[in-house]
Amino acid sequence: MRCLIPASLMVVALAATILLAASPDTTPGRPQYTGGNQLLRPTSYREWIFLSSGLGMSYSAQAGHEMFTNVFVPQWAYLEFLKSGKWPDKTMFVVEERAATSKGSINKVGHYQTDSMGMGVEVKDETHFPEKWAYFNFDEDTKSASANPKAGCWSCHEQHAAVEHVFVQFYPTLKPVAKKFGTYREAAENVQ
Ligand code: HEC
Repeated sequence: MRCLIPASLMVVALAATILLAASPDTTPGRPQYTGGNQLLRPTSYREWIFLSSGLGMSYSAQAGHEMFTNVFVPQWAYLEFLKSGKWPDKTMFVVEERAATSKGSINKVGHYQTDSMGMGVEVKDETHFPEKWAYFNFDEDTKSASANPKAGCWSCHEQHAAVEHVFVQFYPTLKPVAKKFGTYREAAENVQ
């Protein structure tokens, strides 16, 4: 009996499988790194799911200039969270900072958002980081960034966030989901 798939074709298929397995995960909304473990700036985060905005939130008594913080998560991770109340490995978050203003066009009271003031990125990636979660800062023209030292971002998120490292206590549509699955840390609601 003749084999239906020529041997040469099988070799090509095998090589393609090996190459695919070795190449980095390029699915949209997954962290991408340079060779040196630097995170590439997420470019299409404005197409992700919007979680919430903070206005002038400050974690110390003295407030700086008031800014909006807009938080985004990729849709694939958001959908996983709705099913389990947990964040899957390779979840990323962007917190985009924007200046707030009240004077412009027909506006008389209240605030709206203007220029970008930079962004923070949080990644859950167990294979890249022994502490699972890593934190980065980007300006408009930063292409890649190294993880920040653990003492800054990581520690506050570890200590005060309601679901793993994520401040679900401030995201009104996710809070009931986490409570339903029992992954919500009630203690995070208290002033600590
Ligand atoms: C003193 C506490 C504290 C520190 C330090 C801190 N954060 Fe946060 N972070 C928060 C809080 C509170 C929120 C909730 C939402 C907001 O501010 O809009 C948040 C939200 C975020 C989010 C959105 C996803 C989430 O986890 O809820 C990202 C991304 C983020 N921070 C990145 C960073 C980066 C990068 C640094 C370090 C440069 C940092 N954070 C330092 C308290 C902190």
